[in-house]
Amino acid sequence: MIVCLCHRVSDRDIRRAVAEGTRNFEVLQDETRAASACGACHDCAREVFNEAVSTHLALPVQMMEPLAQTRRVIQLASVAA
Ligand code: FES
Repeated sequence: MIVCLCHRVSDRDIRRAVAEGTRNFEVLQDETRAASACGACHDCAREVFNEAVSTHLALPVQMMEPLAQTRRVIQLASVAA
């Protein structure tokens, strides 16, 4: 479902951002541009975001480990640069 009509951001886009590590709504707005134009979608976008974060945090550790490893590699790469 499209959440943000101005920027064609779907609930799947928001869930994907959360799965990739986004935990702050303002960061989500920067990444996807959701709720950054007319603002009509703000409440819905935040609701989808909050639900996605809650769901993601409830995932078993085994499912989160690949994402954590990816983040560690990115952190190491940025430290090395
Ligand atoms: S519908 Fe999302 S900013 Fe307008």
